[in-house]
Amino acid sequence: MGKTILVTGGAGYIGSHTVVELLAAGHDVVIVDDLVNSSSASIDAVRAIAGRDVAFVEAGVGDAAALDEVFAAWPIEAVIHFAGLKAVGESVEQPLRYYRRNLAATSVLLEAMDRHQVRDLVFSSSCTVYGDPAVVPVDETAPIGAVNPYGRTKLFIEEMCRDVAFADPRWRLVLLRYFNPVGAHASGRIGEDPRGIPNNLLPFIMQVAVGRRHELQVFGGDYPTRDGTCIRDYIHVVDLAQGHLAALDSMDMLGAGAHAVNLGTGQGTTVLEMVAAAAEAVGRPIPFAVVGRRPGDAAEVYADATLAADVLGWTATRSVAEMCADHWAWQRTHPNGFAD
Ligand code: NAD
Ligand code: WQD
Repeated sequence: MGKTILVTGGAGYIGSHTVVELLAAGHDVVIVDDLVNSSSASIDAVRAIAGRDVAFVEAGVGDAAALDEVFAAWPIEAVIHFAGLKAVGESVEQPLRYYRRNLAATSVLLEAMDRHQVRDLVFSSSCTVYGDPAVVPVDETAPIGAVNPYGRTKLFIEEMCRDVAFADPRWRLVLLRYFNPVGAHASGRIGEDPRGIPNNLLPFIMQVAVGRRHELQVFGGDYPTRDGTCIRDYIHVVDLAQGHLAALDSMDMLGAGAHAVNLGTGQGTTVLEMVAAAAEAVGRPIPFAVVGRRPGDAAEVYADATLAADVLGWTATRSVAEMCADHWAWQRTHPNGFAD
């Protein structure tokens, strides 16, 4: 039976894809987003894909009064919390903005949920909580410890969730640790639309492919990996979105507590392998130059995805080739993102 789900950050990249999957599964959705890093055009596109309406409240998650109105107006049963800032470099320059928008806002959200007797939460955590893992594939028992302010906001929110669960057994919180989300909805109508110079690999490659950037800089060619470039676990955003539905569906089985679960494919791909896969999807070479290492990059990070399969009954199914093809279908038709 369909539920009413509050999706914070639902206008953003992962949120919009998750809303599409929620609507397809018969849920009703209320989005709260202040559009600090997105456009309401994504919500219009989601409505068009789903052929259904989605409620949208333009507000910050740190706004307790706005949240009270939302919980009073809709029969919300669970919250998926995507809202937050996510740029590592920016977080080093503006740490307080990250602590306010990510950490403080989440405490306001949890208090509002508690006031309104809604205690099921799915939270966007990140593999960044593993820092530079000593062992790969990395599983959920690995030591956690962040290496930048963005990562610390994720780590502290996870700890806050564990404290909340310890204090009150009515809470059920699923902390989803995403690896590297890429790709776009198969319709090509929604996708990632980074503002300014993309920080992440595939968005940068795709902007080179549409001619917005001259060439890709490959950060480091001397890592101890099969081709000297870093290894990551790229995951199709639609697989990731479906992982959130699996988390909602698993709440009864998981029961009380704060449960951390990796969402990755379990497969590692090098930067040069990603460049080659993107070139294949685009149909021409991607110009690149190998330059020095980017500070803070770990050589190799990929998931042990066993727990998600065991407890959520979820496994990623889409290949790197599909990730690149779908990302390209979005970028090719929207060279300037939602501005097109
Ligand atoms: P995004 O920037 O596209 O989406 C985040 C959305 O939240 C945006 O629409 C933004 O306007 C909104 N927002 C930000 N702060 C807000 C606030 N305080 N109140 C209301 N709205 C706010 O990013 P995304 O890639 O979709 O990421 C979603 C979540 O997943 C984030 O929490 C991010 O940290 C986490 N995550 C992302 C990645 C990734 O590589 N994309 C990896 C791991 C975890
Ligand atoms: C991937 C690989 C780069 C850009 C980041 C965040 C992490 C999480 C996921 C949110 C690395 C290389 C990149 C470029 C390159 N996000 N690269 N040239 O670093 O794994 O993780 O996103 O939680 O917190 O730090 O992803 O896409 O930035 O980089 O060579 O122009 O591509 O060095 O090896 P990363 P990424």
